[in-house]
Amino acid sequence: MKTIRFGIIGGGLMGREMASALGRWFALDPFPVRAELVAVCDLQQSAREWFRRVPTVRLITENHHELLAHPDVDAVYVAVPHHLHEGLYLDVLRAGKDLLAEKPFGIDGKAARAIRDEAARLNRFVRCSSEFPFTPGAQRVLREIAGGGMGHILEIVAGFHHSSDLDPDKPVNWKRQVKTCGPTGVMADLGMHVVHIPLRLGWQPRRVYAQLQKIYSERPDGRGGMAPCDTWDNATLHTDVEIDGREVPMRLETKRLAPSETNTWFIEVLGTDGGVRYSTKEPKTLWTFAREKGKDQMWQRADLGHNMAFPTVTGGIFEAGFPDFLLQMIAAFVAERAGELGDRLGCITPDEAVMSHHIFEAALQSHSSKSAVAPSW
Ligand SMILES: NC(=O)c1ccc[n+]([C@@H]2O[C@H](COP(=O)([O-])OP(=O)(O)OC[C@H]3O[C@@H](n4cnc5c(N)ncnc54)[C@H](O)[C@@H]3O)[C@@H](O)[C@H]2O)c1
Repeated sequence: MKTIRFGIIGGGLMGREMASALGRWFALDPFPVRAELVAVCDLQQSAREWFRRVPTVRLITENHHELLAHPDVDAVYVAVPHHLHEGLYLDVLRAGKDLLAEKPFGIDGKAARAIRDEAARLNRFVRCSSEFPFTPGAQRVLREIAGGGMGHILEIVAGFHHSSDLDPDKPVNWKRQVKTCGPTGVMADLGMHVVHIPLRLGWQPRRVYAQLQKIYSERPDGRGGMAPCDTWDNATLHTDVEIDGREVPMRLETKRLAPSETNTWFIEVLGTDGGVRYSTKEPKTLWTFAREKGKDQMWQRADLGHNMAFPTVTGGIFEAGFPDFLLQMIAAFVAERAGELGDRLGCITPDEAVMSHHIFEAALQSHSSKSAVAPSW
């Protein structure tokens, strides 16, 4: 069995999640490729120290060039603030490594295009992170749509909500400032998860009308003062997509100020004959709608269990959680790189990542002009 050896650049929140997923790779059963974490880079000593607990790691460094020069590293997962994506991603590609990038794949559309074009020029395998479409519920949503029993699709709603910014005393961090998060703010932060399924189904917005909100303009800086907090907090995008020759409304929501929500990813697709609804708020519940002539119209609720695209040792009736979705997403990256994805969902492609920037940049224009804007494709 082949082994893919990963390096991680950026050992913060997501770097540790990646290490945790790779640490239980054997839970994928069967799976055609072995994966292990061999090298880690972070600027902070405390972040580097954490990785000493991972037995397969043989290089821990503060210099990403040292990690990239290591011959044992085949692919690199990079999880750093957005203003650093372009420089580090290009360094990974030019060092001859494949890349599992974090969203938003560059701080803006220009950076995303530069990364995509360099990956194509160097023929590297590159995908971008977005794990929620790998939940059992999202996978079932895809299957329901592919089944074609929905009749004419009437509307689509997809979103990602959390509420951790409702507290004005929460200190500022890089995700709350344009210079490090990017001009699209919450869309850069949460939007890739929301557009993954629509873009994969070919539902590219023709027009975008956006409502963007900023509530707290400054936050504690953690040193006794205040710092500007200038990113968009909430974004609601009303868009039109074309499905089977008809214009269909699709609403995309990304919110950091969504009362009571923690990390709620959801999608709903309604058609004339059927519909489907899934939210991580009820992680094992799938709602499907079916209309039968002469009978009551009904939503039905099904318990999902642990039905994953890539089978694992976990019992089929057990509930899935965030670490499971992440493991599935990394499995999709590794399987696709090895030519073993089959008909399963793959991770976001560089082209899709660039498209996401075009949608969110159209949203910025729409909000400032108070009119609908066509994204440039
Ligand atoms: N897929 C998801 O669900 C998800 C969730 C959260 C964040 N993210 C994305 O992951 C990325 C990182 O977010 P995070 O929450 O892990 O951030 P974080 O702030 O927790 O961690 C970032 C780490 O990068 C390190 N770093 C910065 N510059 C570096 C450099 N030049 N070389 C090496 N290390 C460097 C920092 O020291 C820090 O430890 C972002 O792109 C973010 O959008 C994805």
